[in-house]
Amino acid sequence: MTQDTRKRRAAEAAITEIAPLLDAKSVVGVGTGSTANAFIDALAAIKHTFDATVASSKASADRLNGHGIPVLDLNAAGEVLVYVDGADEVDGNRCLLKGGGGALTREKIVAASSERFVCIVDDSKMVDTLGAFPLPVEVVPMARGLVARALVEFGGAPEWRQEFTTDNGNIILDVHGLKIADPPALESAINDIPGVVCNGVFARNAADLVIVASHEGVHTL
Ligand code: 5RP
Repeated sequence: MTQDTRKRRAAEAAITEIAPLLDAKSVVGVGTGSTANAFIDALAAIKHTFDATVASSKASADRLNGHGIPVLDLNAAGEVLVYVDGADEVDGNRCLLKGGGGALTREKIVAASSERFVCIVDDSKMVDTLGAFPLPVEVVPMARGLVARALVEFGGAPEWRQEFTTDNGNIILDVHGLKIADPPALESAINDIPGVVCNGVFARNAADLVIVASHEGVHTL
């Protein structure tokens, strides 16, 4: 079974998980990336069972619109029932490392606005300790040097993601070489650096449920 097939299986399992919760007033939060794209494609089949979605990126909003699924501005949405998104790494406490696609800030905002956060991954994303995947940090452009020097103090090697601007008009520093022993503490400490908009550790508001698809089938954490 390919990785894409496993991503699709996780996305389909998320549909099975959320379908009983939906009604005509429900708003579904939708993440960003290839696994989230598989979720969007599967969501199209049940689009008449809920009201609308909120998207964590322009790319996901475009894909949802392409399926004829309504997309609301978060400020107009009221209560978001559930947020479904992929991740770059997941640990045993359902803490996540996210932002490989650069949408981490809006992902964290929509996740925090939702009653429930369901993360969908294939088993290659499961780790004992977060940090082998470079940690994305969204930074206001004028603070790039200041933030990079502070991240070196944390023991990381920041690399400016070239030719990339976030949906919010900022840059991304990908931080290599971090072993994230205490995810909530590092998440807060990086957020305290002036110029940091958001970082890709999702630990203070970890996933409520992780759906993992492997060659053996689908299991939950
Ligand atoms: C985008 C993300 C994605 O969820 C993460 O990069 C996983 O992507 P994929 O599902 O393509 O493996 O955080 O900002």
